[in-house]
Amino acid sequence: MTFRIRMLPSGKEFSAEKTETLLEAALRSGIALKYNCNNGTCGGCGGRLVAGKTHDTFHHDFVLSDTQKAQGHVLLCCTSAETDLEIEVNEIGRAEGIPQQQIATKVERLERVQEDTIILHLRTPRSQTLRFFAGQHLSLAIDGVPQRSKSLASCPCNAMHLQFHIRHVPGEPFSEYVFRQLKPSQTIMIAGPQGSFTLDESSHRPIILLAYETGFAPIKSIIEHAIALELEQPLHLYWMAHKPGDHYLKNLCRSWLDALDNFKFTALDGGSTAGESSWEASADPALGLRDMETAGTAITTGYPDLSGYDVYLTAPDSSAQEIASLLQQAGLPEEQLHLDVMKRF
Ligand code: FES
Repeated sequence: MTFRIRMLPSGKEFSAEKTETLLEAALRSGIALKYNCNNGTCGGCGGRLVAGKTHDTFHHDFVLSDTQKAQGHVLLCCTSAETDLEIEVNEIGRAEGIPQQQIATKVERLERVQEDTIILHLRTPRSQTLRFFAGQHLSLAIDGVPQRSKSLASCPCNAMHLQFHIRHVPGEPFSEYVFRQLKPSQTIMIAGPQGSFTLDESSHRPIILLAYETGFAPIKSIIEHAIALELEQPLHLYWMAHKPGDHYLKNLCRSWLDALDNFKFTALDGGSTAGESSWEASADPALGLRDMETAGTAITTGYPDLSGYDVYLTAPDSSAQEIASLLQQAGLPEEQLHLDVMKRF
């Protein structure tokens, strides 16, 4: 049995099964709520029932006073819905509100999606899932290898299974290790999250996303988060790859196209010449700039007036300012431009 839960004061909604806790249902829907222990001990997930009926799913050691109970206070990690609900909750509104975490994860799978790109799947312990906003990044540390900062490519709604896109960069120790030595079940320490390249959930403007090369990772995270939140505004994804055919998750983009009425996908390529590899394009300012100008022109041709749009883009730092200027010349206000310019991809 499924119920509709309306959160106050934001007015956001999510679905909850009768058999799951309200906290589980909210997290599965990509909603960032304040909580700590997830087992009824700390009191950190408190909410207040305004309308509807709930039942206790689990015993909790944290004691609610009689007055709190009379006022409708509940612990979301120990409570399930009996009816549709309206409930006051503590949502985390900004990336800065997420606590810093350190978690020992295990390599679940190494998925070679093309010659020079691996999708790294990590799994957290069940009792220690990662809290983050879509689009953020983490520090990854393997014993004996210099640590690297990498963007999460997965949705916060699936916080036990984390995904990262690793490009092979010859001579760079972390990527060399991932490509040549890393094995399933090995331990990787993650720390974070960091970064403010996150979805503006309060906006109802249509969204344009531009990913460059493996900068697709945080864009994918944001799209999956938008899908989990059931955002209704149009989403148009542009994915620029330096070499034709280097859109290593094109089938996933096509599946979004089939499943979502509000989604468009445009694959762009930078017209590489023979011998140029994708990682060279990411690293070479001239190639990166040329690719991003092509991408910017494609967007401004399709959308000559960007004043009513939110734009999310990943770009090599060598071309970030140029692409930002190009979009702003088409009317995009600065506060509606979300840029991820770090050299993580
Ligand atoms: S998260 Fe600690 S009591 Fe619910």
